[in-house]
Amino acid sequence: MSDFYNKILENNKKWVASKLALDPDFFNKLKDTQKPPLLWIGCSDSRVPANEIIGAQPGEVFVHRNIANMVIHSDMNMLSVLDYSVNALKVKHIIVCGHYGCGGVKAAMGSLPVGIIDNWIRHIKDSYRFNEHEIEQIKDENEKFNKLVEINIIQQVLNLAVTSIVQKAWSRGQELSIHGWVYGLDTGLVKDLDVTFSSGERLKDNSIYKLNF
Ligand code: CO
Repeated sequence: MSDFYNKILENNKKWVASKLALDPDFFNKLKDTQKPPLLWIGCSDSRVPANEIIGAQPGEVFVHRNIANMVIHSDMNMLSVLDYSVNALKVKHIIVCGHYGCGGVKAAMGSLPVGIIDNWIRHIKDSYRFNEHEIEQIKDENEKFNKLVEINIIQQVLNLAVTSIVQKAWSRGQELSIHGWVYGLDTGLVKDLDVTFSSGERLKDNSIYKLNF
């Protein structure tokens, strides 16, 4: 077995010991139920560990991650997570957290085929096309990349807001806010993109679809 493999098994034992040292009942309290206030939809990128960057403890965040933090309306995996989070767990917040330097977004900006992922990120290419005028005004390649990362996050927040699951929750008055965040790999800091939706009202404003928040 590799050193890394052995190390992570050891790490688990140490982690359990450290939790029990603080609270001998830590795992006992968690075993029967969960009531997380937050659903996190993030990128699979190993450098953006959901719980860790927001200091969340076990039981506090329900997590769904995929390449480039996508919310695709026909994705049964995402829909199942969303349905369970909203209708069974009754989360109060959903955060779509993307990150600068996202490989999925970068691949969508290029024209070279990568593989199966080309189909997955096809939607990001569409976002690029819909916002081409604004993106093309940016001369610096890195700033262009950052802009598309942000546009992609905002688009996924909008995609979430119009799902039947979220729409139904709002129509029956359930407390639920959806937010868009971007994470900086080089700083560890998140930035709230100020695209929070707490009801269907904001969706009636046509200007939001131009993504110029
Ligand atoms: Co990424």
